[in-house]
Amino acid sequence: MNEYREIKAGIVGGSGYTGVELLRLLLQHPQVTVTALTSRSEAGRPVVELFPSLRQQLDLTYVSPNDTALTDCDVIFFATPNGVAMNMAPALLEKGIKIIDLAADFRLKDVRQWERWYKQPHACPELLNEAVYGLPEVNRKAISQARLVANPGCYPTAVQLGFLPLLKHGLVAPDSLIADAKSGASGAGRTLREDLLFSEVHGNFRAYGAGGHRHHPEISQGLAIVNDGKPVSLTFVPHLVPMVRGIHATLYARLKEEINHRENFKISGDFILQSIYEDMYKSECFVDVLPQGSHPETGSVLGSNFCRLSVLRPESSDQVIVLSVIDNLVKGAAGQAIQNMNIMSGFPEEMGLMGPPMYP
Ligand SMILES: NC(=O)c1ccc[n+]([C@@H]2O[C@H](COP(=O)([O-])OP(=O)(O)OC[C@H]3O[C@@H](n4cnc5c(N)ncnc54)[C@H](OP(=O)(O)O)[C@@H]3O)[C@@H](O)[C@H]2O)c1
Repeated sequence: MNEYREIKAGIVGGSGYTGVELLRLLLQHPQVTVTALTSRSEAGRPVVELFPSLRQQLDLTYVSPNDTALTDCDVIFFATPNGVAMNMAPALLEKGIKIIDLAADFRLKDVRQWERWYKQPHACPELLNEAVYGLPEVNRKAISQARLVANPGCYPTAVQLGFLPLLKHGLVAPDSLIADAKSGASGAGRTLREDLLFSEVHGNFRAYGAGGHRHHPEISQGLAIVNDGKPVSLTFVPHLVPMVRGIHATLYARLKEEINHRENFKISGDFILQSIYEDMYKSECFVDVLPQGSHPETGSVLGSNFCRLSVLRPESSDQVIVLSVIDNLVKGAAGQAIQNMNIMSGFPEEMGLMGPPMYP
């Protein structure tokens, strides 16, 4: 027995990668029971038939998204493609159910921008203002009072956590930001796609979306907020790397001239940058600033909710480089969603999420 209440959770889209990752993590959460799990194509099928990794852990069968079991939940996660949550959210919120959307339906505040990037009309623009962007390191207080949380995208999580201290302290030119990011193939979900076949991905490396990616407006929106509400100019290029999980973002920014020329920065700039990062994240349970000079690896966060960061300044340069790694399915999706659920439910933020990463 502890002081916290038990809650029931539902997952819409429980047969995809983030859905089954939610399930794996929630099975380790002491206060949550998953009572409804949907898949249109697998309705009626026991979950363990599809995912033998979960045998002996649960006894659940997929239901369809309109099953009444969903309306009996305290919180519902949408691990679905863009455009699904926005059609179901209003009725569920009306019933007093909290919602965490892992897709992008509620991430952008500007409906015209959302419709331009997501190429469909928004079904409930009236909820965009109310929805809280679920990056706990920035929005913890608002998340604690929210009934609708827009869980950040995977790249946006790695990129924003990396740039945040630089912008918050006004150290870098906001028009000089570059995010060169790489993701494993699970970032694209479990749906069959020719370009994601083993033979296409293995031993191969490519950029995509360099001319415009949906995560660009989301990252820019978030960075502008920490840049005192002033817009930033960001170049963002995502890449696909032949691995299953993990995101590695290499971030570049130029120190403002007045900062770079400060006497103390000339002498001990590296140390100052390191202290700023350590200070900003010292009370964050899931953001780990590595010792000066380190290079974080995606292999050090696999299966965990950690973001590991390092900040470096090439010798005699006005550039700052930040290296940021996360597991796209955990801190980039399901883990962060559970972190948000914990905050919304009054549980300790790290509850059920402190399992160490897998290695190797
Ligand atoms: N993969 C990542 O690393 C990652 C990271 C951050 C955010 N996200 C976002 O999280 C969401 C889920 O991603 P994923 O990678 O888990 O996708 P996925 O593997 O393709 O799974 C999608 C799930 O949604 C269900 N679904 C599809 N269309 C539906 C509809 N119209 N109504 C109800 N359910 C529907 C699917 O099952 P049925 O078709 O059988 O119903 C399946 O269970 C996406 O919006 C994605 O952008 C993904």
